[in-house]
Amino acid sequence: MDDELTAAEDGVSALLSRRRERWYPVFHIAAKAGWINDPNGLSYFNGRYQVFFQHHPFGTNHGPMHWGHVSSVDMITWRREPIALAPSVEADRDGVFSGSAVVSDDEKLVAYFTGHRWRNGVNEDQGNLQVQCMAVSENGRTFEKKEVIVECPEGLQHFRDPKVWRTGDRWFMIFGACSAENRGQVWLYTSDDMYNWEFDRVIFEDPDPSVFMLECPDMFPLGDRWVLLYCPMGLESDGYRGRNDHNAGYVVGSWAPGEKFEQATEYRPLDWGHQFYAPQTFEAPDGRRIAYGWMGSFAVPTPPQLTDNWAGQLTVPRELTLDDDQLRNTPVAEIRSLRDSTTEFGEFRLRSNEERVLMADSEAAEIELELDLSATTAERIGLKVHNTLDGAHTLVCYDDLAGRVCVDRRLTGNGDRGYRAAPWPREDHLRLRVLIDRGSVEVFVNDGEESLSSFSFPNEGPRGIVLVSESGDTHVASLNVHTLATIWERPDR
Ligand code: FRU
Repeated sequence: MDDELTAAEDGVSALLSRRRERWYPVFHIAAKAGWINDPNGLSYFNGRYQVFFQHHPFGTNHGPMHWGHVSSVDMITWRREPIALAPSVEADRDGVFSGSAVVSDDEKLVAYFTGHRWRNGVNEDQGNLQVQCMAVSENGRTFEKKEVIVECPEGLQHFRDPKVWRTGDRWFMIFGACSAENRGQVWLYTSDDMYNWEFDRVIFEDPDPSVFMLECPDMFPLGDRWVLLYCPMGLESDGYRGRNDHNAGYVVGSWAPGEKFEQATEYRPLDWGHQFYAPQTFEAPDGRRIAYGWMGSFAVPTPPQLTDNWAGQLTVPRELTLDDDQLRNTPVAEIRSLRDSTTEFGEFRLRSNEERVLMADSEAAEIELELDLSATTAERIGLKVHNTLDGAHTLVCYDDLAGRVCVDRRLTGNGDRGYRAAPWPREDHLRLRVLIDRGSVEVFVNDGEESLSSFSFPNEGPRGIVLVSESGDTHVASLNVHTLATIWERPDR
């Protein structure tokens, strides 16, 4: 694989020399240059957090997939690592697709991924041939590929994204599949030596007949429940739900080795924004369940893809907890360490249609806003982020008519428009935490009861953050604005 990896690094260097910074993230993981999608191989190994991701090093579109790699001691400051996996054998000829990584008893980092081939060698016209593969690393940076561990049954087109975990003394692997009847399924395999895998059962089939494939499934315990995360392809939009070309959500249930998964809840989105896909989780050494998602798009070319020589970023890491069978996701506590200056605005009232500038120019910021809705009459209250002098901005707001928290990109400087809206139970106090990077916004409602993750690509010029109270007064209970530092150990160039 050495030649392929060297060529991939050269590909990134060529793009990096022409990378534009205007939307390149300050505190989100992205490739130095080139395209990324799903988080892969999330793990803690050799005293470092390991984050891999789907990476095309030769362009800003999805292409022959590699695994990019970064690592960190504390999940705050990150180091670039060499590209870890490249297509190099017949089984992964057209791509090293998504997968996971676990630490073996003899202290090796073992990666499981899908080897992808186009049946006709060129494109999807005659379908995919996908198999589950394995690669082993002693140092967490360089991998040795092993044999194919799960072959694809004759005729199946989608068969990918292995997620491996251990329960007791056995290893378990799930991945997504499209059945012969065109239904989205999750298949379960087991192993006691990490190399030899046996089919256990189809552990889940999406009850929705329009869903034909479940990409990137993940399954993990939280308390006495098991959560099954997945990305249903073919899902039809329904009101505020399923509006994206690619959607990610979950069901909660119970499971034990040797048993079937008893589904206890309906499918629910994990995040309500425009860009949130392929979330993967891992267990941190202190027992927290942490997820990263991919912020990107297969559907509409995003502005950086066209001109800036990079595309796609991961979300901030989020801790998942279960509250009454509903997942909460909130930025891990470590994110607070990125704050490098804080302005406290305290408690105040904003009159009807009044605006207040919170920051005149900011590239990376975090806002903590608490509203007393019992003393508020405004129709919409919120933040114009990426607000430029020409009036372009993205509105992050509470909409009292809809009773929802929205990210509205009607006036956003660049890229796709439209709005997304998360439910809100209409209580007296609403707390919003908003993370604003150069090209994105992530909104967390009441400590992660709901979240919205969306791209937001501003126009040229200073990027203000402005509080607005539309058609009615607003009572702000508290407001803090932080600037955030970069996550990179060393600048890229
Ligand atoms: C999801 C996905 C996976 C696949 C990978 C390829 O975004 O399509 O199913 O393994 O991306 O890059």
